[in-house]
Order: sequence, then C-alpha cells, then structure tokens
Amino acid sequence: MFNNKKKKDQNYISASESRRISRENRKITREFEKKRERKHVDPSEYTTKMHDENNVVEFDNLHTYFFTDIGTVKSVDGVTFDVPIGKTVGIVGESGCGKSVTSLSLMQLVQRPTGQIVEGQIRFNDGETVYDIAQTPTNVMQKIRGNKIAMIFQEPMTTLNPIFRIGMQLDEVLELHYPDWDKEKIKARTIEMLGLVGIANAEGVYKMYPHELSGGMRQRVCIAMALMCSPRLIIADEPTTALDVTIQAQILDLLRQLKDKINSSIMLITHDLGVIAEMADYVVVMYAGRIVEKGTVHDIFNNPSHPYTIGLMNSKPVVGKKVDELYCIPGKVPNPVAMPNYCYFRDRCEMRTEHCDGEYPPVIQLSETHQCSCYRYLDYLNKKKGE
Ligand SMILES: Nc1ncnc2c1ncn2[C@@H]1O[C@H](COP(=O)(O)OP(=O)(O)OP(=O)(O)O)[C@@H](O)[C@H]1O
Ligand SMILES: [Mg+2]
Repeated sequence: MFNNKKKKDQNYISASESRRISRENRKITREFEKKRERKHVDPSEYTTKMHDENNVVEFDNLHTYFFTDIGTVKSVDGVTFDVPIGKTVGIVGESGCGKSVTSLSLMQLVQRPTGQIVEGQIRFNDGETVYDIAQTPTNVMQKIRGNKIAMIFQEPMTTLNPIFRIGMQLDEVLELHYPDWDKEKIKARTIEMLGLVGIANAEGVYKMYPHELSGGMRQRVCIAMALMCSPRLIIADEPTTALDVTIQAQILDLLRQLKDKINSSIMLITHDLGVIAEMADYVVVMYAGRIVEKGTVHDIFNNPSHPYTIGLMNSKPVVGKKVDELYCIPGKVPNPVAMPNYCYFRDRCEMRTEHCDGEYPPVIQLSETHQCSCYRYLDYLNKKKGE
C-alpha cells in the first residue's frame, strides 16, 4: 500500500534507479573534473576574444547542470547576456531560477563535483587577457577570483570569520594579493579602505571582532574586503536583503559611488525590483534557468513584455497607487528535473495563446536593446522575416 502510494508520486525514483543515475553521474563528472584539474594547460585553450570590447563579461549560451541522484538539475540552461564596462546589470527572478548559480559559474564556485558547466562560454576581460572561465583550469582561476572579480554575499557573517579581528581578516586579503607589501603598508591600506566604506572609527574597528559590529557595519566591511584589489567586476548577490531599509539605501549608495571610483562593473542579483530600478543600467529577467526578457532598465520598467515580468511588476507595491489586493503570480516554478520542451511559464501564464503549445519560444528582438522569449510577440519575428 505504502509502496503503491509512493510509486504514484511523479518524483518517486526506486533505489536501483537512483544507484544507476549516480553511477552515470560519477562517470560524467569525473571527466569534467579531470579536465579542470590539469596542471599545465596551454593558455590558448582558455583564452579567447571578446565579441564586443566594451564588455567586461559575456555569458554566451551558458549551461550549468547539477548531476544529482534524482536526475540532472538544469539550473542554468542557455543563458546569454553581457556586462558592459562601468555599468550595472541587475538580475531578477523568483527564488531558484538560477541567479546565484549563474554568478557562481563565473567565479567557478559551483558546488563540485555535482555542479558543472557543461556547455557555453563565459568570456571575462581582466584588462589584459580575455579568459573563457568555462575552460579555465583551477590554478589560473585562483588568480582571477578575488583579485579581478569580487563577490559580496547576502549575509556578511558568511564572509567574515567570527574568531578573527576585522583588521586581521582584511590584512590577510592584501597579504595574499600583494606579497611584496610590508605590514605597515598593508595596515594603512586596510584602514584607508575602512574609511572609504564609511566607517568613521576605522582604527577602532580594525581591532574589533565581527560580533561587535552591527549588520550594516559588517556589510560595509565585506564591501571593503571585496574592493581591496580594485576588481574589474563586483558580483553582489542580494547584498542588502539582510539589512533594514535605511541601511539598505546607504549601502547601495556606497556601492554605486565606489563602483565609479574604481571604474568597475556590478552584477547585482536581487529579487527586489525597487533596488534594480535604482541601481541598474540593464536588467536580465530569469525564469527556471533561462532568460525570459532582457533590456535596459527603461525597457523593462516602461515596457515590461514577458507575462512573467508583467506579473513581477504587478506584484510590487507602488507608493500612491491604491489596490484592493496585491497581484500574485499563480502557481509555482516547475520541477527543475525533467523540464518540458515548451515555455516553462506556460502553465502559470494568464496570457497564453494557441502558439504556446509549441516548443520553447525563440528569442524575439523587440527593439535594439530589448529582447523577450514569448509567443505573444511572434508578429515582430514574422515582420523581420518579411522585410
Ligand atoms: N548544490 C546544488 N545541488 C543541486 N541543485 C542545486 C544546487 N545549488 C542550486 N541548485 C538548484 O539550482 C537551481 C537554481 O538555484 P539558485 O541558487 O541559482 O537560485 P537563485 O535564483 O539564486 O534563488 P534565490 O533567490 O533563492 O537565491 C535551484 O533549482 C536549486 O535547487
Ligand atoms: Mg541565490
């Protein structure tokens, strides 16, 4: 009885089936790992050219999968977008749509060996060389990570070590990246950085432990740590979600100022559309591992086109606008294992057309800067073909 009930469950996998899957997974991931761990790789294998010199990063058809015992989770399934130099790109989408996995792929920090980049390129221009991060071996990546690309996380305590003083933790970053600097120079630079992120009592904070600081102060320390080496790109994954609104505004302001000061770019991940509107130049909207719409911040906010983006906009409270009930997108995100080959949003969509029964919609160019994957805009595609 119990077994039958279990078997009816669509997600149920028998023990032998699971063993078979994990055996296959091991075979696949071992190949990837072997390639990644090679010591003497010719640079021609992992260096490349940017398609547009104005970009610092170009994600090109990126696929990052997790080979789990219940099947392959296609967390990022064909993502293509650019981060221009000096600009901020906001990535939005519901929980689990692959925002973090996209940024972790760029840092080569996806949980290994289950998580692997299986296809596509991530071109990163460090100022001198252009790397294809998807092919870069671990030992080369260690020089890029932290130095050229820095990451700020949601919860500052995950970055800071609770048992070491702030100063020591920041000094350590500099020691690692500038081995020829002496202790005095390192300390002076750390204190200067603490001042730069708006900490008034920098000398005092230098000697404190993380628990002695408030959440906002801790996040400032994390920003100081991320910016230590003037990175080309800052990835901020929900940097202000753990903070209250006033501190949030201060931290975002700080991030914007510092970005301009060191002329780097920001990849800002958040599910807060307000933050995006304030900070971003370009917006990427993700849904279930794919990009459903992208464009300039103006395109997305003035002319949201994909039903999912329209839903997101409607579910955001607006000051001064009276509504009886805030809009809620019906249904939930589909199971990431065994995704169907039709629009992933179809079953939740209130604007479904007869075309939506077909395969996954193509990317449709709505304007020079605005793209959307939805059958509602088939006219644009047909018009283009007719031209
Ligand atoms: N280590 C892992 N093993 C298996 N699946 C994973 C792993 N990490 C992430 N995933 C899956 O990848 C998908 C994307 O996850 P990701 O963390 O990128 O979501 P997200 O968009 O950042 O969500 P959130 O807004 O909650 O941070 C999810 O379906 C998640 O279950
Ligand atoms: Mg995330």
